[in-house]
Amino acid sequence: MKIIRARDYDHMSRQAANIISAQVILKPDSVLGLATGSSPIGTYRQLIAWYLKGDIDFAQVRTVNLDEYVGLAPENEQSYACFMRRNFFNFVNIYPANSYIPYGLNKNAEDECSRYDRIIQSLGGIDLQLLGLGPNGHIGFNEPDEFFTKGTHKVSLSEATTQANKRFFEKEEDVPRFAYTMGICDIMQAQRVVMVVSGAAKAPVVKQAFFGPVTPRCPASILQLHKDFTLVADEAALAFPD
Ligand code: GLP
Repeated sequence: MKIIRARDYDHMSRQAANIISAQVILKPDSVLGLATGSSPIGTYRQLIAWYLKGDIDFAQVRTVNLDEYVGLAPENEQSYACFMRRNFFNFVNIYPANSYIPYGLNKNAEDECSRYDRIIQSLGGIDLQLLGLGPNGHIGFNEPDEFFTKGTHKVSLSEATTQANKRFFEKEEDVPRFAYTMGICDIMQAQRVVMVVSGAAKAPVVKQAFFGPVTPRCPASILQLHKDFTLVADEAALAFPD
């Protein structure tokens, strides 16, 4: 595990974008695993800026997103499909035919999850997975549990996650209660994993995940065992309370 200590959110975003752009320059047809949430937005913004300057080309890049809310259409403003268009895809040359996100409207969970895992496999696996960190240690939507999950699956979102995500919805009742998410095995099989974390509010969970025991009670802790995991965190997120 490597830790890159950034000064603040913008510096963290540039450092993570540097790693992603090096990946794409060295392997133009890379499979990038992408994440939503406020943490990676600055990374996407930096990649867009470099794309507009002509420094990076995504024409051959394939992308797989970590997760999607069950019940939301890709056109829905709160869907992660829409988040990705709004914050990244609309501004770079990643082609829609090359980007994948679980389909929230598929009511048949088993069918959707196996379809998504087959997509990841058919792409040859993930070269670089970008992650944020949930306040309860979740990655993607892998919530704290008694065991680590393997492939893509349907999850019931925890109360903590619903509370954290309600800021994006008009009313709390609108926050979906279920999501499709890649599993821990999908994430652990990525060749490289890069996590972006910012702000003092995340410091306790950073400490728990990366300086505590590996346990499904804090799903991100499994990344301590990944062969090429880089945590890009700002100083506030690394200032642990006593
Ligand atoms: C959501 C996403 C996660 C993300 C988390 C943290 O729950 N499913 O992938 O890491 O939010 O979000 P933020 O970066 O806004 O703190």
